[in-house]
Amino acid sequence: MKILVTGGLGFIGSHTVVELQNEGYEVVIIDDCSNADEKVLDGIETITGKRPLFEKIDLKEKAKVEDFFKRYQDVEGVIHFAASKAVGESVVKPLLYYENNIGTLVYLLKELAKKNKASVIFSSSCTVYGQADEMPITESAPVKTAESPYGNTKQMGEEIIFDTCKVTPSLNAIALRYFNPMGAHPSVEIGELPVGVPQNLVPFITQTGMGLRNELSVFGDDYPTPDGTAVRDYIYVVDLAKAHVLALKRLIEGKNEENYEVFNVGTGKGSSVLEVIQSFERVSGKKLNYKIVPRRAGDITTAYADTTKANEVLGWKSQYSLDEAMKSAWDWEQKIRS
Ligand code: UD1
Repeated sequence: MKILVTGGLGFIGSHTVVELQNEGYEVVIIDDCSNADEKVLDGIETITGKRPLFEKIDLKEKAKVEDFFKRYQDVEGVIHFAASKAVGESVVKPLLYYENNIGTLVYLLKELAKKNKASVIFSSSCTVYGQADEMPITESAPVKTAESPYGNTKQMGEEIIFDTCKVTPSLNAIALRYFNPMGAHPSVEIGELPVGVPQNLVPFITQTGMGLRNELSVFGDDYPTPDGTAVRDYIYVVDLAKAHVLALKRLIEGKNEENYEVFNVGTGKGSSVLEVIQSFERVSGKKLNYKIVPRRAGDITTAYADTTKANEVLGWKSQYSLDEAMKSAWDWEQKIRS
């Protein structure tokens, strides 16, 4: 069975391609390489012994999307990662984000709606909950006004898929709301490759540990949390990748109860910024250079998942601890700098 993975050369996409191939799916990747490297295909091939098919296509080019689906009529499922993801950039360039993340989704859905049967997994984010009123966050927590155009594209993406599924019985979709993905494949053949200065905590920490950055700025120690720093749910990317495969199987096997479903994907455990730093220090044996600075605009205090639905309905549970995930991130950082 052939599965299209858009953005399959990216961080979460590449790990998901590995898990799909390990489960026997045939994968075709679409990526425009705007934030990823074709060399990722080598890493995937080394891990799985199989090179996925690859089409360098920009999904904004509607004619090319149509042509792709004519050439690959046997695609039965799509895992859609391709999107721009820098929160700060999205505030400065909102139309770029709406065009990249919404325009491309519409083109994709138009093609999928023509098929007799199609399954879609959508890359969503816990950002849709904003600062939730209750922890842990369940899927029924209200979606709050987005803080950024990026966050808005995730909310709108979910709504577009929901509306389309409602009138397209042949289309089944699951949105996975990720908490904070981190780490790298244990083989260290693939991992996160941030362009420029990392905005996310874990790559910033590992780059600081390597001496590429002078020090980590901890954004705020006056949050109402046990140690004053903000709390997130850090999920190992391989665990997250496996959730995609289970979600896709659910749709392919027709086990879904509705034709649009939503699942949180996290560990269920919150960790503060200082706890993440301590984890790095434990696994690397290095002291991390950091200083406390004021809060970052738009950041929330606490977010961690209630994973009951994914546990019970998808049969998925995160397996790896923060230290194990951190160790893989550190191994990867050392490998790419050597
Ligand atoms: C961010 C995005 C979120 C997106 C997610 C993807 C924002 C506001 N939110 O989440 O929409 O889905 O990435 O991974 O950008 N921190 C520091 N110093 C740093 C970097 C981060 O102290 O140099 C802190 C942050 O304040 C936060 C935590 O580390 O408390 C995690 O930050 P980050 O990795 O950027 O993720 P989020 O902000 O949770």
